[in-house]
Amino acid sequence: MKIVVIGGTGLIGSKTVAILRQGGHEVVAASPNSGVNTITGEGLKEALAGAQVVIDLANSPSFEDKAVLEFFETSGRNLLAAEAAAGVRHHVALSIVGTDRSDNGYFRAKVAQEKLIVASGIPYTIIRSTQFMEFLGGIAASSADGNLVRLSPGLFQPIASDDVAASVADVALAAPRNGIVEIAGPERAPFNEIVARYLKALGDPREVVRDPEARYFGGRVEEKSLVPLGEARLGRIGLDEWLRRSQAKA
Ligand SMILES: NC(=O)c1ccc[n+]([C@@H]2O[C@H](COP(=O)([O-])OP(=O)(O)OC[C@H]3O[C@@H](n4cnc5c(N)ncnc54)[C@H](OP(=O)(O)O)[C@@H]3O)[C@@H](O)[C@H]2O)c1
Repeated sequence: MKIVVIGGTGLIGSKTVAILRQGGHEVVAASPNSGVNTITGEGLKEALAGAQVVIDLANSPSFEDKAVLEFFETSGRNLLAAEAAAGVRHHVALSIVGTDRSDNGYFRAKVAQEKLIVASGIPYTIIRSTQFMEFLGGIAASSADGNLVRLSPGLFQPIASDDVAASVADVALAAPRNGIVEIAGPERAPFNEIVARYLKALGDPREVVRDPEARYFGGRVEEKSLVPLGEARLGRIGLDEWLRRSQAKA
């Protein structure tokens, strides 16, 4: 089966491409570096010719509110139009758990991406994932105020990118759900506690402060804003195991 992975050179994209190739599929790892650009449309028609499945794992180069909305809207429109012309039979995209329950600019952009997919008429599966463990450093940096890291005690359930890629590959090989599936890490705990464990394991001296008013990329975080409310497929790699693996790699 020919599968095109848009953003196939990214964190989740490169791992998903490797899993699918191991399964014997013909996989195109598409990205601007390989001449496929969903914003300009460059190379899309050629990459999609004969593809049955497209997995959209592209990410915006800028997380600024307006730029990220423009990215996901333009990219989504161009990609879905090219897929319709090529007769693609399953569109898979990676979104975020709680994207419709928080009010930050990045989440709004992902909601816009999801709406385009639902309206496209192409059979689809949207995977909503919790935050990647690889993103914990970025979260700490965005919440830092000097030596203090202010974080909400809202529940948090990060997932390792290896577990995300495994789920994305499984979903891509299954029949379209025409709906949403949710995935999350195996442990759920307050946001401030997980980031504190992460910084401590790294020997990072910054202190994490529990702050119910702290915002997540500008959005309010209630107790269950960022965790699945219903059934979710859980990853196997817990935070301690992920820390061990990342430190061994480093
Ligand atoms: N971070 C999280 O915690 C989280 C949680 C849930 C869902 N997600 C979603 O997961 C997805 C993948 O994230 P990631 O962290 O794996 O992304 P990433 O590592 O930043 O990779 C982004 C990929 O997008 C490609 N790309 C950028 N502009 C493009 C364009 N105009 N056309 C085609 N491809 C383009 C990049 O290609 P180049 O290498 O050529 O630049 C790269 O392959 C995103 O949609 C994100 O919203 C993230």
